Amino acid sequence: MLINISTEDFQNMEVDLLGVPVFQDKKYLDEVSSLDSAIKKAIEIKDFAGKKGEFLIVYPQNWKSKRIALIGLGEESKFELDFLRQGIGELARHAKKKQLEVVGVNTSILWSELDEEKAIAIGESLELGNYEYSEFKTEEKSKFQVKEAKVFSKSDIKDALNTGKVIGEGTNIARDLANKPGNHHPPKYFAKFVKDLFSEFPNIDVKIMEEKELSKLGMNALLSVSKGSDEPPKLIIMNYKGGDESDQPIAVVGKGVVFDSGGISLKPSKDMHEMKGDCSGAANTIGVMYIIAKLQLPVNVIGVTPMVENMPSGKATRPGDVVKAYNGKTIEILNTDAEGRMILADALSYTVDKFKPKAIIDMATLTGAMVIALGTVATGVFSNNDELAEQLISAGKESGEKMWRMPLFEEYGEQIKSSVADIQNIGGRPAGSITAAMFLKHFVGDVAWAHLDIAGTAWSNKQKGYIPKGLTGAGTRTVFRYIYQQIKN
Ligand code: BES
Ligand code: ZN
Ligand code: ZN
Repeated sequence: MLINISTEDFQNMEVDLLGVPVFQDKKYLDEVSSLDSAIKKAIEIKDFAGKKGEFLIVYPQNWKSKRIALIGLGEESKFELDFLRQGIGELARHAKKKQLEVVGVNTSILWSELDEEKAIAIGESLELGNYEYSEFKTEEKSKFQVKEAKVFSKSDIKDALNTGKVIGEGTNIARDLANKPGNHHPPKYFAKFVKDLFSEFPNIDVKIMEEKELSKLGMNALLSVSKGSDEPPKLIIMNYKGGDESDQPIAVVGKGVVFDSGGISLKPSKDMHEMKGDCSGAANTIGVMYIIAKLQLPVNVIGVTPMVENMPSGKATRPGDVVKAYNGKTIEILNTDAEGRMILADALSYTVDKFKPKAIIDMATLTGAMVIALGTVATGVFSNNDELAEQLISAGKESGEKMWRMPLFEEYGEQIKSSVADIQNIGGRPAGSITAAMFLKHFVGDVAWAHLDIAGTAWSNKQKGYIPKGLTGAGTRTVFRYIYQQIKN
């Protein structure tokens, strides 16, 4: 979507739909009423009261815009940036649904100037709301995209709007990658996609590590998962160098299970189709790298995505098998459906070893237990470093993605002690998401590390605000914002 600044006032902005956010407080309702009789009427008869989540289309008398969308943001004193994002996301979504090509946004009743945060949020939510996974739809309607947005501003907010737009684009890339059906996104698809995506970008190197090399390096935990599949595994490494040569990078690692059948520990068939989205961590990582590389940020970031398919076959790993991981630890595989931690084990320890990052963050749809603990509302944050955990939680507040810290008490480690190897890959039902994180902790050494279990937030059963149905890209914007904050500090 093209996003431009417009200095045309309410009556003179020529668009198909003009979004006008309004607080619930009387002074704003009075002010917006005075702009046009159709608005006045809607407020008089109480069809619109400015409450959070309200969205009403009215038809103005003598405006150049065909339609006005009144967008309720609730009480001014309770305002949160995400309410604006949700409202503007709804505006874009509505325009897309009704096939309107040009939308406008005018917030001048509420704020005389748009600060950087608000301008970013507007650019971001316009893109996020304009998204639908439509690759395999043949009807025109699903493919329709809003072409242009005009945002009213007297000051130059071009850079902030563009930052927001790129954040939205990166998240939509993540959504698209994860939404693809399993037969359309095998590891080799991801490898080619990433190569192509970054081929025109300066400062970013992409390396694809093939099965042979992984085997030579001793990544047997990763290989134990792909063994049962006819699709060979890939380890994708994206190395972005925007900072000083001597600056240690920040590393982002994402679980890339392109389809998780469970392997020999086969999953029940109900909802198994959702496991095409088990590569959401990897998709998000690629999205984060896109945002950083596109904005040419002055920072060094390594993105690593282990890509595998988890299938049962005569060559598949059996429950009870033991493998030696890249860092030398031996793992007893008691359940082949606990595969995410296996591939992350090697990807994490390799990244720590090879790139010496100052911080390493992984994103993974790791455990069903996470969905039981926090539902679809919040992402679980597990970390060996309080500062990093706090920074991620605060980045989540800025991005509107709720993050909740989970404990890693040593006692939980008892549950994954094995009688035949150093550790085992499951710890039983109690605290299942924590024992999974405790497992990962064995592979990060002393580096500041955080694990985001996005199992509950990566998938949405319904469209809400700027969150689409299907794979959501949840986590992408928070990890990006964490990195963005590191640059500013
Ligand atoms: N990919 C799943 C976790 C998952 C479940 C993600 C539901 C999203 C929604 C993961 O690989 C898995 O199967 N985990 C097992 C672990 C168990 C065998 C210890 C689980 O959560 O049941
Ligand atoms: Zn699994
Ligand atoms: Zn999985």
